Amino acid sequence: MKVEEVGNYDGFENAWLSYRQQTDCKDKQYFTAIYAKSADAIVCTAVKELQIATEQILGQKAVLYREEPEAETVGIQLRLDATETVSEEGYHLYQNKGLIIIASKGARGILYGSFACIRRLQMECAFMKTAPEAFSFERIDIMEEPSNPLRMLNHWDNMDGSIERGYSGGSFFFRDEEVLVNDRTKCYARLAASVGVNAVVINNVNVRGNATRLIAEDYAPQVKAISEIFAAYGIRLFLSLNFAAPMELGGLNTADPLDETVREWWKDQMAKVFARIPNFGGFLVKADSEGREGPFTYGRTHADGANMLAEAIAPYNGLIIWRCFVYNCQQDWRDYKTDRARSGYDNFAPLDGKFRDNVILQIKNGPMDFQVREPVHPLFGAMPKTNQMLEVQIAQEYTGQQRHVCYLIPMFKEILAFQTYCKEQNDTVADIVSGRTWGNQACGMAAVANTGNDVNWTGHDLAAANLYGFGRLSFNTNCTAEEIAKEWIVCTFGGDAEVVETILKILMMSWTTYEKYNAPLGIGWMVNPNYHYGPSVDGYEYDRWGTYHRADYQGIGVDRSSAGTGYAMQYKEPNASIYNDLDRCPDALKLFFHHVPYTYQLRSGKTVLQHIYDTHFEGAAEAEKMRTMWQSLEGKIPEKIYHRVLERFDHQVWHAKEWCDQINSYFYRKTGIADEQGRKIY
Ligand code: GCU
Repeated sequence: MKVEEVGNYDGFENAWLSYRQQTDCKDKQYFTAIYAKSADAIVCTAVKELQIATEQILGQKAVLYREEPEAETVGIQLRLDATETVSEEGYHLYQNKGLIIIASKGARGILYGSFACIRRLQMECAFMKTAPEAFSFERIDIMEEPSNPLRMLNHWDNMDGSIERGYSGGSFFFRDEEVLVNDRTKCYARLAASVGVNAVVINNVNVRGNATRLIAEDYAPQVKAISEIFAAYGIRLFLSLNFAAPMELGGLNTADPLDETVREWWKDQMAKVFARIPNFGGFLVKADSEGREGPFTYGRTHADGANMLAEAIAPYNGLIIWRCFVYNCQQDWRDYKTDRARSGYDNFAPLDGKFRDNVILQIKNGPMDFQVREPVHPLFGAMPKTNQMLEVQIAQEYTGQQRHVCYLIPMFKEILAFQTYCKEQNDTVADIVSGRTWGNQACGMAAVANTGNDVNWTGHDLAAANLYGFGRLSFNTNCTAEEIAKEWIVCTFGGDAEVVETILKILMMSWTTYEKYNAPLGIGWMVNPNYHYGPSVDGYEYDRWGTYHRADYQGIGVDRSSAGTGYAMQYKEPNASIYNDLDRCPDALKLFFHHVPYTYQLRSGKTVLQHIYDTHFEGAAEAEKMRTMWQSLEGKIPEKIYHRVLERFDHQVWHAKEWCDQINSYFYRKTGIADEQGRKIY
């Protein structure tokens, strides 16, 4: 398969890698020569990226020399050196006697260091007039080690070209049951690598139809071609796997993980996959979940299922990433004891220590499903002898579907900072998934991706901040949400102070604003069923999905205390006691853990009902405010983007009011209690 050279990016936009020209940058002398002895493919990518940035930003050529620079040479040196102090993916970027040195033990470290260097150049150019020294290369000395071994994007792309929960056009990996390999693949790889992503799953976790055949011979040339494009950017390709493949593909009459013929079939398949695709990473598996086949079908445990695959893949250093999103989706709403929130912990915690070393359990950030507010999943820290990784969703399934702006990095920061009390020290989610807590290597962070074929990749231009942000955060969980947002804004829109400040404000308020007009106090799920967009307070109330708010005329909330479903007790102390205690439970999660009267006084001093009214009016008003803020940037943002975003804000303002009015009216009608401020409720 022939794939064109990197460098042709016409036809769609380059997001934060859209370089603006700034030919009078005072550090341009460094960007005239690049010294790189190594001909490693990833180092070559780094060189190319530096050359592209140099040409597009500084309007000059950076010549490549495959030799050591002589004394007093000015330029950039990519130094791949086994004796470096930083790891294979870490880098040291510093200035020494006229040379900018990017050093690492590994080629990927060189690539990340080069992108950091380009970012620095973008920042320096953006602030040349206002803060000429702030990003100068004179005193540059940055050493960065990735926080997480795996920094992964999970695409839920289907082979017909649709994307499950995709809000930015069709798939660029698949169309009409074919695998696509083109310029967009490359541009995607470079965007992902530029923020430190090192693993990508290209197909939906719900593996159906031809997607089951992605491991077979038929698709091998294309899959291999993608893996090679990825490899040049330091990314390992993964696929989602169909647990029932032995039957659907292999013609066996069972997929029982303890059946010898099944085990042999998988061993054979794995040998073939890794022979065809040498750089292959492994598989992501959704089993026994929402109708997918799994070990439960055969009375086996999830450890049996995962270990069977892990054993088959072990000779090739492959990983099995096994999802913990396993729950009973045939619930009866009349049943107050069964609790979907409990299921992850109940199903997996007893299996601690039973999984092979090359299995990682991938756990959603919360126990339900990516709601705007959920408690952190109690499985984190509950399995000291098991590899765990965090799954978040930047596809905004429940957070505005990339029509509302909702910058999610502040939420992810809270999740990462959550203290599980699983150990005396190093007990946060960030510690656990980075490997710091138990000293393991197989762990990290994954995000359900928000990209598609839209020219701007993410539908809403501002949603690209989540893609950028996820990568940067998973690479360095110490970065603040503000820092990341600011970097993204500057790289995308330049350094105009008003532009930076205004967009930063919009991004930083957007999640809270969205939460305000959405389902209140952690209860979640007041959306239209199936497509999960727009308000429908009772949409999921009498359904089979375990997603209830239990509102009546007196009160609302799910009792998950020890007197209720007992979910709160799945946490370690003191978290369990705090959540269990109505008064100590944080307001933001009050209705997730407790059923309370509308007149219950929150820690804020407001009643639950008045809180609902107030936040909903505030949320709708804040949506308008964000639009006004955006409008103040007219003329300062490329016109196309300005109008694209404005259109989305127009919709958001209307839709936020819809949320506000429907939710407030629902509770007013249920309770008959008026708003203290006498605002219009229907
Ligand atoms: C949610 C989502 C589904 C998805 C599932 C999953 O339920 O709505 O589309 O398949 O999560 O994470 O597997």
